Amino acid sequence: MTRPRDTVPAMTPSPPRAAAASRIVALGSAFPEQVLSNHDIALRVDTSDAWIRERTGIEQRRMLAPGQNNSDIAAAAARDALDRAGLPPSAVDLIITCTNTPDRWLPSLGAAVQAKLGVRAGVPAYDLVTACAGWLAGVQAADALVRTGAYRHVLVIGSEALTRYVDWTDRNTCILFGDGAGACLIGPVDSALGSAAAEPRGRILGLHLHTDGHFGDVMSLPAGGTRQPASLEAVAQRLHLIHMDGLEVFNHAVRCMVEVSRELLAAQGLAVADVDWFVPHQANLRIIQAVARRLGLPMERVALNLHKYGNTSTATIPTCLDEYTQDGRIQPGHTVLMTAFGGGLTWAAGLLRW
Ligand code: COA
Repeated sequence: MTRPRDTVPAMTPSPPRAAAASRIVALGSAFPEQVLSNHDIALRVDTSDAWIRERTGIEQRRMLAPGQNNSDIAAAAARDALDRAGLPPSAVDLIITCTNTPDRWLPSLGAAVQAKLGVRAGVPAYDLVTACAGWLAGVQAADALVRTGAYRHVLVIGSEALTRYVDWTDRNTCILFGDGAGACLIGPVDSALGSAAAEPRGRILGLHLHTDGHFGDVMSLPAGGTRQPASLEAVAQRLHLIHMDGLEVFNHAVRCMVEVSRELLAAQGLAVADVDWFVPHQANLRIIQAVARRLGLPMERVALNLHKYGNTSTATIPTCLDEYTQDGRIQPGHTVLMTAFGGGLTWAAGLLRW
């Protein structure tokens, strides 16, 4: 495709301006309209609404319509965040798309989102793959890049099309996942752009991120990469879809999210009592309850949206944060602890002062 000469972007980056800290300027969310209830799933595999609710806390999830792609909801969530910030797409200096389920493995989801969002050509966009800890990893990268002055306004999008990657014959996994996207615009704490300048909220206090590759097999997409390239045989064995050892994942998830939360709080000189809201990755209500119990956080201070959307991987934390800040449960000045866990293994925690 040729591009008219007058749309060729200026490629010279603006001079770096280091920032004392970064903040979440605005959040946005997007979910597909189609709702898939537990009853709908019970028509496909041997399960029941009661079992899924009791063992996971999930009541329904959203599902992309045929023809709709991850990039559509990723761009919609980003547009929502930019609208709330009162900023045009031209204010974006970098796009980090955190996903495990891109439209295609090449080009990146980030490139597709850049084009759909109308961000000017030349602005970098790339994918970051760290399973369900992806959005926190993206925020950590954006925070560092904004503080050094490399980029001023960074879109960090957690977006998933998991219903396209689950095995609809496997009741152990297909009940858990849903599609959705959460986005945030990260800028310097003194960002004076747009309507968001009036409300300097969302200061990022710190993030910690960890990986342990020794347990890579507990949750994986076995085929489609170089280890087992796509083939008729691989597809017949359903190896191109999500495989998971649920109990093993459950146990690692609780341990890792508790440890990294404690580690980050200690590094910031904060105690659990200082946390007003806990926004954990939404994988299973029993995992969340176990983590909250071990940290000593009452469930009244725990943000939840998995009953409505299931596990949307990288989108769970930004969409939950968006909902709770929009409806006023999370208020200005509140200290928010976030934590996530996923395949890899990867796990992370983040602290915000809303
Ligand atoms: N409906 C009905 N029965 C089901 C079922 C379903 N959807 N899925 C599993 N079962 C059955 C099992 O086959 C097993 O039957 P059996 O005793 O006859 O063998 C029984 O229920 C108990 O299975 P178990 O695996 O012990 O259930 P569980 O309480 O551990 O719950 C998960 C299973 C998957 C919900 C749970 O392990 C989990 O949430 N793990 C974490 C997964 C996760 O969050 N992954 C993403 C991390 S980012």
